[in-house]
Amino acid sequence: MKPLGIDVLVVGAGAAGMMCAWEAGRRGRSVWVVDHARAPGEKIRISGGGRCNFTNLGCGPHAFLGENPRFATSALKRFTQHDFLKRVEAAGIGWHEKTLGQLFCDDSAKQIVRMLTDGMAEAGATLRLGVAVERVARSGDGFEAALSDGSVVRARSLVLATGGKSIPKMGATGWAYDAARGFGLRVTETRPGLVPLTFEAGLLETLAPLAGLSVEAVVSSASSSPKGGRPSFREGLLFTHRGLSGPSILQISSYWREGEAITVAMAPGADVFAALKAAKAANGKQAVHTALGHITPRRLAESLCEREGVHGKLAEVGDKALRRLDEAVNRWTVKPVGSEGYRTAEVTLGGIATDQLDQQTMQAKAAPGLYVIGEAVDVTGWLGGYNFQWAWSSGWAAGQAC
Ligand code: FDA
Repeated sequence: MKPLGIDVLVVGAGAAGMMCAWEAGRRGRSVWVVDHARAPGEKIRISGGGRCNFTNLGCGPHAFLGENPRFATSALKRFTQHDFLKRVEAAGIGWHEKTLGQLFCDDSAKQIVRMLTDGMAEAGATLRLGVAVERVARSGDGFEAALSDGSVVRARSLVLATGGKSIPKMGATGWAYDAARGFGLRVTETRPGLVPLTFEAGLLETLAPLAGLSVEAVVSSASSSPKGGRPSFREGLLFTHRGLSGPSILQISSYWREGEAITVAMAPGADVFAALKAAKAANGKQAVHTALGHITPRRLAESLCEREGVHGKLAEVGDKALRRLDEAVNRWTVKPVGSEGYRTAEVTLGGIATDQLDQQTMQAKAAPGLYVIGEAVDVTGWLGGYNFQWAWSSGWAAGQAC
């Protein structure tokens, strides 16, 4: 079969790939986007509980992890959260800020997918779904790709936009990493990020009565990050049957490494010891767990008193035991045994090394015409809309150049 010649072949019709195709098409490039899934933007569709937390008003390099978090700065500045918001508004999509600068659709994440597919269609980009790339190689000053439908495509530019390994059930693969290695690019170690943490059986048994309970907490790494400072997040924490989840835990999971502990404050800002002493002075007949239940949810108070072996009336309990409760509430140090892994991780940490790419264009320095965007790159954001903004910004940047 005679190969079809186009300007740009984008592999992956996710957030980054569609933004890139939209932009490249607007610049008059002939663009194909191929994806082995049956529908485009599946992760967008399920994100944010179906409402897609599509960006964050406070987006900046501080909210990203990777070998060189500053790599993201250029793309994030060239196509900002405000630029994406303008497109959302131009598409007539209602939005709201939920908390901490996180922007969500009022109605449905499907509106974002529709905005991107409409944008691509208007720009003349061709979307090929249910098609995998079987082989890709250099061909002259461009690339040649053999597709699973038997066709062969020749393109001047090749864009790797197949994301990371999270949620294999949804079609995630390590394809971009393998393809990048095939072109001589370095790939850093990958691991699940924004993922619930799991605990050993003994601790799980103690925590079992708390499953389903959620509290506002400050969760911190027990050890310092390589750059100094101790990552710390104040957000919701959820007890589950498998361990701990909720936004604060997902955030810290991206910094956590095997063997390390995390510290948890479940009544942040409260002086638990002072409050219990005051309660004792006011009414010594009150049960300790009742007094603690005025500071933390009652179920948590009962569980903590049980775990620390502090029972009876406040009048019968000494300062040492009250201090133990204070520690248990606000300086709980606990060692996860693992995470739930790629099965539930929202993102993949690590990926195609940023020193291999040009930060303005996302083009591989040693392989002209090859671009890598989105989650496949070693740039990972915090929870809260940062990962989509990276997909939009990096996709946009490549779309101006490919
Ligand atoms: P993305 O994964 O979106 O797209 C990759 C595409 O490539 C897919 O369409 C896939 O089918 C295709 N593909 C994979 N392998 C292929 C192959 N071999 N051949 C052809 N095609 C292939 N972020 C955020 O900012 N706000 C949020 O609310 C959420 N919520 C959220 C919820 C859940 C459950 C998850 C799992 C993740 C999030 N995220 C998020 C993270 C966000 O979804 C993620 O960072 C972006 O989707 C990454 O965009 P990409 O385009 O890089 O990859």
